[in-house]
Amino acid sequence: MVSANPTGTPLERYEALKAPAEVAYAAWRTPERARIDVAIDTSSLANGAKATRAAIAARIQETNATVDLGQNHGYGMQWLQPLVTITFPDGASVVYGPVKADQAAAIVDIATGRTPATSTLAIGAVAGKREGIPSLRDHPFFALEPKTGRRLIHRLGLTDPENMQHYLGTGGYHAAARMLDRHQSPAQVRQELIDSALGGRGGGNFPAGTKWNFLATAPGDEHYVICNADEGDPGAWVNRVIMEGDPHLLIEGLLIAAYATGSRGGFIYVRDEYPLAIARLEAAVREAEAAGLLGNGVLGTSMNFELRVIRGAGAYVCGEETGLINSIQDGRGMPRVKPPFPAGSGVFFKPSNVNNVETYANAPMVVEHGAQRYIEYGTERMRGTRLFSFSGDIQRVGFMEIPFGVPLAGVIEACGGMLPGQQLKAIQSGGPLGSMLPAREVPNLSMENVPFSALDALMGGGGIVFLGDQVCTIHMAEMFTQFVEEESCGRCTTCHGGNQRQTEIIRRTIAGDGRHEDRHNLALIDRTLQFSNCVHGQFSPKIVRNTLRFFSEEYERHSAGRTCDALECEGLIRFRVTNQSDPRLVEAQEICPTAAIIGGPGARRVDDALCIRCGACTDVAPNALVREAKPATPRVVAIS
Ligand SMILES: Cc1cc2nc3c(=O)[nH]c(=O)nc-3n(C[C@H](O)[C@H](O)[C@H](O)COP(=O)(O)O)c2cc1C
Repeated sequence: MVSANPTGTPLERYEALKAPAEVAYAAWRTPERARIDVAIDTSSLANGAKATRAAIAARIQETNATVDLGQNHGYGMQWLQPLVTITFPDGASVVYGPVKADQAAAIVDIATGRTPATSTLAIGAVAGKREGIPSLRDHPFFALEPKTGRRLIHRLGLTDPENMQHYLGTGGYHAAARMLDRHQSPAQVRQELIDSALGGRGGGNFPAGTKWNFLATAPGDEHYVICNADEGDPGAWVNRVIMEGDPHLLIEGLLIAAYATGSRGGFIYVRDEYPLAIARLEAAVREAEAAGLLGNGVLGTSMNFELRVIRGAGAYVCGEETGLINSIQDGRGMPRVKPPFPAGSGVFFKPSNVNNVETYANAPMVVEHGAQRYIEYGTERMRGTRLFSFSGDIQRVGFMEIPFGVPLAGVIEACGGMLPGQQLKAIQSGGPLGSMLPAREVPNLSMENVPFSALDALMGGGGIVFLGDQVCTIHMAEMFTQFVEEESCGRCTTCHGGNQRQTEIIRRTIAGDGRHEDRHNLALIDRTLQFSNCVHGQFSPKIVRNTLRFFSEEYERHSAGRTCDALECEGLIRFRVTNQSDPRLVEAQEICPTAAIIGGPGARRVDDALCIRCGACTDVAPNALVREAKPATPRVVAIS
């Protein structure tokens, strides 16, 4: 634990913290004996990092190997997880992956020098050099990242996120300390932010400095800064990367915001599904308090700043800033009517500022290096770099930090293109309130808001999902409509009822009962939803609207033609036994949740009336059953 220095100016107190941290970090970077760091973050853990770490620990113990075991955060190459970094005594760090538990012995052998570093698992050197191993930065996945290196996430992979000394030892908290040393007044900090044109990363790109001005000039002295870490969009995990990979960066960003806006309290509202982020943030807050960087008299000044980590309430709409504020107050996560905006009446009805994790996390960079350096990257309309997470049917799933404005086609290339045998069909961005665009629009899209909004789409909070041609966009739209319906807070009948009607129509379409008038009724619902109180209701018909516009033919084939070419929509497909002698057919019969596979040996068949089209049978016995288009049934038309 780093402890506070009791005397001196803010910078002197900071230097007293930094000097031993620098020594500790240098020793970590050039260890006396090799160290194996297993990347421990949520997606690594989901891919077996815990088992890998345990196997490496066991192997070290068994063989009495003279190596150490540590941890870091993944570098972004999530398709290669679990990732392991070996740091050698000369400071060279080589990343290996995917390292499954059964490869522990091979990794320990490399670390002890028993086998050369150039294993087939070697991906690249993240620091220093090793003969025969390329630099990690030369990997095509990072082709779009700044040539001068990462700016926001430069510590990832090169620090232990749970070690505050690593943050301090790499220059962390210097921006805040210098600012507190009266290098900049609160107004100057806000002006620097305005000059950098740092835009809100929650999706809207509203200038952060302008928002901070609203709070700074609000009446009273009880102001709060709130960090929106509710990150609920499927396919977006960029906020999680910052919180798990560099938690003190976010804390420093909030400290700067608190100084600039005259706030004495702050909250980080983290979605409950991010337990590791919550644990790391809570520990980091405690450490920062002990070091005198949070709490009463920050770095010996008169500034008091108490920061609390709040576990989210689990609803998507708690990500809406006023719903989030209600939730912090232990109220129901229901968006308030605006105005008043949070700067006028926020948490506990006191002036507050809400920004996204990445927005705050950029503040130390702007304050440390100035606005001019910040705007070296990006476009006129959107300055700087931003984190994106890319997933779906692509070869390389992961996250990267890229300048705003790079072409989407380049992103797909960096991600290695689509999975073998798949063509890009659609791009899903902005989460459930976002958009669905067809592959033919790729040449018109670059990574900033305007090209997306020109197509009535949203780039959103940093997650983009690439969908291959085996996906049914109508089925996908149903998943999103159901989600936005369930997540409607229920405040407005327009949103609550409107979304129920929207889901009903799409669900009926995929059940094989689309109607001629549906398109007209969906447009009416869309218009009505615009009268909802908050953006949740107003944006909830966006994906359906995009689907009707850009995938109109596919929609008509479902609605009028009663056909789902992707064979996904429940009412338009059926399952049929094709191979009675496949032994797995019995397993399929046993696993069927509705006992829809009837009959005995040699005469098994699927009872269409019982089948719920869950696909469990074709998953266990792919050579015994097929899913196929349901033969069209004549439509019954009522004649009055
Ligand atoms: C339903 C809904 C969910 C939202 N979820 C998030 C979220 O998870 N994270 C976020 O930063 N903003 C989210 N927003 C936007 C916030 O209301 C707010 O605009 C944002 O936190 C402001 O931060 P920024 O200026 O830094 O972008 C959501 C909005 C709506 C309507």
